[in-house]
Amino acid sequence: MTTNPQDALKKAAALAALDDVVDDSIIGVGTGSTVNHLIDALAGIKSRIRGAVSSSEASAKRLAAHGIPLFTLDDIDTLPVYIDGADEIDPGFNMIKGGGGALTREKIVAAISRRFVCICDASKQVATLGRFPLPVEVIPMARAHVARELTRLTGGEPKLREGFITDNGNLILDVHGLAITTPAALETTLNQIVGVVTNGLFAQRGADVLLLATADGVKRTERPL
Ligand code: A5P
Repeated sequence: MTTNPQDALKKAAALAALDDVVDDSIIGVGTGSTVNHLIDALAGIKSRIRGAVSSSEASAKRLAAHGIPLFTLDDIDTLPVYIDGADEIDPGFNMIKGGGGALTREKIVAAISRRFVCICDASKQVATLGRFPLPVEVIPMARAHVARELTRLTGGEPKLREGFITDNGNLILDVHGLAITTPAALETTLNQIVGVVTNGLFAQRGADVLLLATADGVKRTERPL
């Protein structure tokens, strides 16, 4: 049940994404509270799709509960569309993702998808990425080294996400205090730190379409050239 205005906007964005679902295809499905609305809506049209590839155990569980067939990346080599939320999205459709800790699998599924549809409420739109702490998935034994390197390279403050283990058995460091003006370059730089699995910048593979829900309705925008 929709409980608050922001959740109603998340649901509106998710429902708008049903227009992007390609009949008889496998859908790439992200993670988070916005995507949960999408999964519930997909249940209503499940006879139109073959199934889904999920970016997290949580989404897989929800898809399975609706009886939507699950596929793995061993079953397929490309997807027509990947639909996911974001923690922040900038005017170039670069994103910070990973607030739910699923960034690595999200990045993998996005990488094999021909089209990334981002579903958001208006609070996620920012001029510059970085107010939302940047999640970085880290191999546990490298945690202290990676934290030092993140501080040195970004000037930000990495904080361990307490009590959280990713679906891949790793830790998350959330980097606070950033203003990210060159997201694609920073994405590459941070991935070079030994011990980093991946970081939550989605710039080299940003969104192709933004479905932004506001009080005036859902606005669809294609990625600027
Ligand atoms: C999950 O790891 C994230 O990347 C989510 O896509 C992002 O945090 C958006 O989540 P909400 O839809 O819950 O805001």
